[in-house]
Amino acid sequence: MEELAEAAAQRITHSIQAAVQERGHCLIALSGGKVPPRVHHIIASPPLRNQIPWEALSIIWVDERYVPFDSPDSNYLLARQTLLDHTPIPSDQVYPVPTYYATPELAASVYERQVQALLGTHGGQIDISILGMGADGHTASLFPQHPALNAAANQHVIAVTDAPKPPPTRISLTPAVLNRSRLALFLVTGGDKAAMLAAALRGPFTPTEIPAQMIRPAQGRVVWMLDAEAAIHI
Ligand code: 6PG
Repeated sequence: MEELAEAAAQRITHSIQAAVQERGHCLIALSGGKVPPRVHHIIASPPLRNQIPWEALSIIWVDERYVPFDSPDSNYLLARQTLLDHTPIPSDQVYPVPTYYATPELAASVYERQVQALLGTHGGQIDISILGMGADGHTASLFPQHPALNAAANQHVIAVTDAPKPPPTRISLTPAVLNRSRLALFLVTGGDKAAMLAAALRGPFTPTEIPAQMIRPAQGRVVWMLDAEAAIHI
């Protein structure tokens, strides 16, 4: 895990620097899960902390659990504790999913407009989407055989109320918008994911069963970073 987190932190730092050099700003979508906190900690500490143009970053979430901001399940809280509170990212450039709205559908529709507006000011693309994959093949909060996989091509955000991974109510970016990433960076660790990882990477292509396979940006790259346990069948 540590080696993977180090390598991922380096990769993210370089991608941020390149985006800011080329376009003046960088839009990043964060995930929850086991690996991101470690990566966050590395980029929020010297030496990488001093190499990142924090004022040029805008932050959104790949997915969020429909819980209050101070819930231990909140991906926003996780990012605050491990990244945001330790860096000079301007707070008005941080866009958590507004889970304080009365329903997940309402929160998703408000976030839809925010994500749309941010894409508008970032050349129509997310510079870096940090993704995980579950042992069932899910990514973001896009689960196997779930209707969210069929979200319309112009829909950016979707509410999911029956996720098999707890908590069940979540808000997720859609496959269509994740496919507008310049870099889709999957971070996967652990032997429990080895078989699914081999299936996801080797095929056959069955995205309804393995949602992670849906992420194939036409104008971007997919990079998988794995630890030795996860990569055992590759
Ligand atoms: C979430 C995540 C989710 C995660 C994967 C992998 O909030 O649940 O964003 O999509 O990335 O489930 O998580 P692990 O790395 O912890 O297995």
